[in-house]
Amino acid sequence: MSASSASSSLLLLSLCLALLSHFAAASPRPRDLRFSAEDIAAVEAALPLRHRRSSGTTFFEVDRPLRPPKGSSGPCSTLLLSHSFAFTLTKPPVTAAYSPPECLLEAGAVSLAVLEWRAECRGVQYDRIFGVWLGGAELLRGSTAEPRPGGVAWSVSKDVTRYAPLLAAGNATLAVYLGNLIDDTYNGVYHANLTLHLYFRRAARSSSPQPAAAADAIVPVSRSLPLNDGLWFVVQNSTDVQSARLAVPPNAYRAVLEVYVSSHYADEFWYMNTPEQNGPFREVTVLLDGDVVGAVWPFPVIYTGGINPLIWRPITSIGSFNMPTYDIELTPFLGKLLDGEHHELGFKVTNALNSWYVDANLHLWLDGKSSKTTGGLVAYDAPKLAGSIVSHSADGIDGEYEATASRNITATGWVSSSRGNVTTTFTQRLSFANTNVVSSHGSAQAINQTTDALTSVSGGGAQAQQQVHQSFPLYIFLGGDGSGTSSQRLMRRVEIGFEEARSGAVTSTLRNRQAAAAEVTLRDDAVVGASWRMHQTYAYGASDGGCYLRNVSSVGYDVLFDHRDASCAGARGR
Ligand SMILES: *[C@@H]1O[C@H](CO)[C@@H](O)[C@H](O)[C@H]1NC(C)=O
Ligand SMILES: *[C@@H]1O[C@H](CO)[C@@H](O)[C@H](O)[C@H]1NC(C)=O
Ligand SMILES: *[C@@H]1O[C@H](CO)[C@@H](O)[C@H](O)[C@H]1NC(C)=O
Ligand SMILES: *[C@@H]1O[C@H](CO)[C@@H](O)[C@H](O)[C@H]1NC(C)=O
Ligand SMILES: *[C@@H]1O[C@H](CO)[C@@H](O)[C@H](O)[C@H]1NC(C)=O
Ligand SMILES: *[C@@H]1O[C@H](CO)[C@@H](O)[C@H](O)[C@H]1NC(C)=O
Ligand SMILES: *[C@@H]1O[C@H](CO)[C@@H](O)[C@H](O)[C@H]1NC(C)=O
Repeated sequence: MSASSASSSLLLLSLCLALLSHFAAASPRPRDLRFSAEDIAAVEAALPLRHRRSSGTTFFEVDRPLRPPKGSSGPCSTLLLSHSFAFTLTKPPVTAAYSPPECLLEAGAVSLAVLEWRAECRGVQYDRIFGVWLGGAELLRGSTAEPRPGGVAWSVSKDVTRYAPLLAAGNATLAVYLGNLIDDTYNGVYHANLTLHLYFRRAARSSSPQPAAAADAIVPVSRSLPLNDGLWFVVQNSTDVQSARLAVPPNAYRAVLEVYVSSHYADEFWYMNTPEQNGPFREVTVLLDGDVVGAVWPFPVIYTGGINPLIWRPITSIGSFNMPTYDIELTPFLGKLLDGEHHELGFKVTNALNSWYVDANLHLWLDGKSSKTTGGLVAYDAPKLAGSIVSHSADGIDGEYEATASRNITATGWVSSSRGNVTTTFTQRLSFANTNVVSSHGSAQAINQTTDALTSVSGGGAQAQQQVHQSFPLYIFLGGDGSGTSSQRLMRRVEIGFEEARSGAVTSTLRNRQAAAAEVTLRDDAVVGASWRMHQTYAYGASDGGCYLRNVSSVGYDVLFDHRDASCAGARGR
């Protein structure tokens, strides 16, 4: 391959740029943490023959399977959209008319709703971001898999039961935006099918426990069509505030804002950003008429092309196919929202570089027995973010810097409805620490970060009370040896975790961890070998009997072992 020697120099150059610039004036570009098509082609060409030939690879994200509650009927499946996304960047989203499936109109109570995205792509293409909206409310956001020349397929199933009021409402527009670009090099077209699977509670079993009750109405906080982009707001810098004005129905008694976020371009790898790039700390703040009423400290989703794309094949990074969302309880502020006027809900990203895609859904519970509820804010305290960055470097090349941040928000408010006069307190305690160490004369870099988020809702109705403790450890190592000699190795390691403990109506714990490494060997600047491995453990247990254990490992494109246990045996006490 004539391109291989040029591309391997690119790999090298990228590594050096990314490392040296940390204490130098120049900033690394985000693409330095990505491979070009030539880089990937050179690596694929160096793989054993059986891997090069392979066609139709399936990539997957480890998640627990979605099962309807006992006694459910279904599924009733409806294809919502089938589309081929070729040159779609800066074009309007693909839309389809949505009306509730017949079975939903007939059967009524949904016990589980699953949105399935199934896609394939062949050729050369970057990972792309996509979003799905119904009536302006976002239902799913994910990154695509990066294809191989022989083709790649993947699917993701998301529990969308909480969107039941949207699914059952009248006619609405379904919109899908996937910003893909086609040129002479990047020729991969994404073919995707979007299907809704519905399960119903049997009338006879109506005494069986209800799943967490969905809201009565959902108000989108996003941009409206027509658009040549997704419906998300694009936050471009740290002072940029993107907002929508909205009014809530006069009989709301509970409000929860569900926030979707993803980071792109200069902030794609925000956690590796230098002090010159506003450092490694980011948060999305939610503003109600200009006041900070909640904060999202995002899980660092690494897209399938990030750090070293080989690492994420075939087991993709946590959250990449199905990004997590974050709930902010706005019930304490209902007094303000219930005045019949429009209010401004805005989003800001602390320290942001271009760009962040943010939007939200406002889930509202309505009082069926009265036409008007009232409320009042009793206490509200949202002190300024506390944070610092400390750098140490003797020679301006090797060194270390540490960034920390902390934020607390608490709000208490009452809402009076036919359910009584109920006081709710929402509290967030957030902390963050990141160390970034550059060593070996700038040839190695390690970042180690932890995000810790404690969110609680107390008082309130029984269904609202909960405490969620999330912890997101992240470790990334970039290094190499043999620099400047004819035989070199480029190494990357990633350890990442999504850990969550919930208590409330249902108590659950999730421990989802990945540890991965990749190594590319170069001889005289040409790629002569590549190897990578991934180990992931997923342990989920819940007081409602739900549990899932998975222990899966891959080497190169091969799955080495894959142990799954959904029987709950041995799940207790983990
Ligand atoms: C989408 O559905 C069509 C029709 O059933 C099928 O031919 C195609 O293979 C599907 N594509 C994907 C990516 O699943
Ligand atoms: C939805 O659209 C269909 C077809 O256009 C129409 O028959 C139906 O009456 C509409 N339903 C509502 C609730 O608007
Ligand atoms: C930040 O972004 C906004 C929105 O694009 C723009 O109007 C503003 O000029 C930018 N501010 C800075 C300091 O770049
Ligand atoms: C947040 O509260 C914790 C104690 O709960 C405290 O240690 C921390 O300093 C507070 N942070 C800020 C920014 O107020
Ligand atoms: C609800 O309770 C709060 C505090 O307990 C009180 O200040 C408020 O007046 C009450 N509202 C109504 C409508 O009774
Ligand atoms: C990252 O930092 C944490 C907390 O200081 C530490 O326990 C952990 O071992 C570090 N991880 C790595 C891979 O060095
Ligand atoms: C995962 O499976 C491997 C291989 O069977 C085993 O050695 C390891 O102990 C398991 N890890 C966990 C956490 O169960």
